Amino acid sequence: MQFYKGKKVMVTGGCGFIGSNLVIRLVEAGADVTVVDSMIDEYGGNLHNIAPVKDDIRLNISDVRDRVAMQYLIRGQEFIFNLAGQVSHIDSMHDPYTDLEINAKAQLGVLEACRYYNRDARLVLTSTRQIYGKPHYMPVDENHPLDPVDVNGINCIAGEWYHLLYNKVYGIPAAVLRLTNTYGPRQLLKHNRQGFLGWFIRLVAEDKQIQLYGDGAQRRDMNYVDDVVDAILTAGKDNRAAGQVYNLAGDEPISLKEICEKMIATAGKGSFKLVPWPEEKKKIDIGDFYGDCSKITNDLGWVPKVSIDEGLKKTFDYYETCLNEYIKDSGEHTLKP
Ligand SMILES: NC(=O)c1ccc[n+]([C@@H]2O[C@H](COP(=O)([O-])OP(=O)(O)OC[C@H]3O[C@@H](n4cnc5c(N)ncnc54)[C@H](O)[C@@H]3O)[C@@H](O)[C@H]2O)c1
Repeated sequence: MQFYKGKKVMVTGGCGFIGSNLVIRLVEAGADVTVVDSMIDEYGGNLHNIAPVKDDIRLNISDVRDRVAMQYLIRGQEFIFNLAGQVSHIDSMHDPYTDLEINAKAQLGVLEACRYYNRDARLVLTSTRQIYGKPHYMPVDENHPLDPVDVNGINCIAGEWYHLLYNKVYGIPAAVLRLTNTYGPRQLLKHNRQGFLGWFIRLVAEDKQIQLYGDGAQRRDMNYVDDVVDAILTAGKDNRAAGQVYNLAGDEPISLKEICEKMIATAGKGSFKLVPWPEEKKKIDIGDFYGDCSKITNDLGWVPKVSIDEGLKKTFDYYETCLNEYIKDSGEHTLKP
């Protein structure tokens, strides 16, 4: 962490789940941090997330789609951790244009700003393993065909490839991480459209019942957020990461039913019930998925360190003290056209 001491770092999406955990770690390391976040109501930005470091960062409420703002903000930054995103797969099907603007077009805007005003900045983009679609084989490595099952996946591929292209053509050092299901403190819990993990955590924390689709036997891998932050920081500081795409993956796959059981046992509350698949969700579900992260392990030495049991314990301990900060503005989150 000594590496980041005194470094100028910009984190887009820095009020969100993974971004805020990254920002806190950077502040602890002594970095000079600028947080850029649009705080759009539907997404995971939450000022409570950055409360512990609010006096130690520069917070800029702006939108990565604002090219003029980006051209100003990226100047002088040594590192840009590009985490701002429209994360919901289901929302990308209801409102594909917004997903396109944020996950693809705005990424181009950030890179164009770097092309004109800061070619030395080192970038790390957080993409998603969802772009592989239904796996042809497992564990899924970086050579697996890309076959997205939703609009979000297509736009995330474009966002990734812009980064790789600008690295190749303009020498802007950019690395791409394909994240798997991530969980932990500071995650969006106010609605269920950002993936199953946050929603399950909320229901268990509220001592409610999880409705688990199908037989719950589909297996996934998952990463605790601290491991993901480690991977982002590692990819940022290592020259070998520039121009590369790396999968992140969990230790070993686990069925959704087992995840529910572990959550309930850890929190000492909640329950689950198997229910039939809703049609809309079934269409974009990918079944079993687990990834292969040996490329980032071999190149950069990253391995996930936090076990599911330990990660869940830390997660429920966190929400025990501040659950209300994550559910207080729950309600009808309707999409705006
Ligand atoms: N959480 C996961 O399991 C997971 C899995 C795969 C990939 N990812 C990727 O990691 C990144 C961070 O995800 P997260 O889980 O922290 O989500 P999040 O919703 O908590 O954080 C995203 C942040 O980006 C901000 N944002 C969204 N649009 C913006 C815009 N136009 N301008 C500025 N800020 C904007 C949001 O306000 C939010 O604070 C995303 O790019 C996501 O696609 C996350």
